[in-house]
Amino acid sequence: MRRVAIVGATGAVGVEFGEVLRQRKFPATEYRLLASARSAGQKLKWVDGVRTIEELTPRSFENIDIALFSAGASVSREYGPIAARAGAVVVDNSSAFRMDPGTPLVVPEVNPEAARAHHGIIANPNCSTIILLVPLWPLHRANPVKRVIVSTYQAVSGAGAKALEELDLQTRDVLSGKAATPRVFHVPCAFNVFSHNSAVGDDGYNVEEAKMVQETHKIFGDASIRIAATCMRVPVMRAHTESVSVEFEHPMNENEAREILSAAAGVRVVDDRKGNRFPMPLDASGCDEVLVGRIRRDASMPDGRGLQFICCGDQLRKGAALNAVQIAELLL
Ligand code: A2P
Repeated sequence: MRRVAIVGATGAVGVEFGEVLRQRKFPATEYRLLASARSAGQKLKWVDGVRTIEELTPRSFENIDIALFSAGASVSREYGPIAARAGAVVVDNSSAFRMDPGTPLVVPEVNPEAARAHHGIIANPNCSTIILLVPLWPLHRANPVKRVIVSTYQAVSGAGAKALEELDLQTRDVLSGKAATPRVFHVPCAFNVFSHNSAVGDDGYNVEEAKMVQETHKIFGDASIRIAATCMRVPVMRAHTESVSVEFEHPMNENEAREILSAAAGVRVVDDRKGNRFPMPLDASGCDEVLVGRIRRDASMPDGRGLQFICCGDQLRKGAALNAVQIAELLL
């Protein structure tokens, strides 16, 4: 049986789950859409017709085989183990279980085999981490990565449906001469670029940056890779861009990198130097692939071991819903 529950069905990722499941013709036999009491009774257009949202309760997982969670870490911490005990396999989009040693953290293009070792919960990585690792992994397999410097230009969608509304509303307000009022973010997001809204630690790195380091080590199974991340928000709706500098063990020729990336699963090379056309969030939005371009030798590393590129991926799809559905497909 393939009875599927969606926890957080009314959210930005929840709605995207529906799109991805429909497009991939996921062989579900039944869907149960769950959200908070606020949304219970609401109708939602779903894969198999219009469905009614039910309130999430401890009994929501009876007769459920797969539960896709995207309702925040506290909901996952409370209900993830309940769903697993009820016999469902949870694919959790939150950060609740990612670094738990007994919970697989999976990017299907990188470590699909890890999913098999689950004890009822599989974690979906952080969106910026997924978008970085899809192109980094095939390069790493060809020539071990020693060090990565990554800077992100993250869309607002990572902060949920309310953040998408906030960017829309603030943009309209500013253009009509009104002040932008921040609600979801701590500062205005329209016409602005700001350091990621997660908490900043004593070492000066924010939580998003720390996630990129720790999760990469876990997914690659290699904690020796040195990574420094800078995570920023930009006034973009739904696709993240990342600027990446990689140091390899051996020299990496840019044509070799282009060939490896062109053949890599989940990657589309967009690298038109003449036309000055490279990955952009507008092109990546709605796409399954991570777009990769600006592939070039790092001029600051004369020994040829450095490579730079940018990548761009839809935060709601590959960064969240698509990756989770691909994990669920591994369970079929
Ligand atoms: P609701 O719409 O009823 O608040 P987003 O990430 O876009 O903000 O969406 C969060 C999702 O998580 C929404 O579907 C939201 O439902 C759901 N959610 C938030 N808190 C709870 C909760 N305590 N119980 C169940 N669902 C929740």
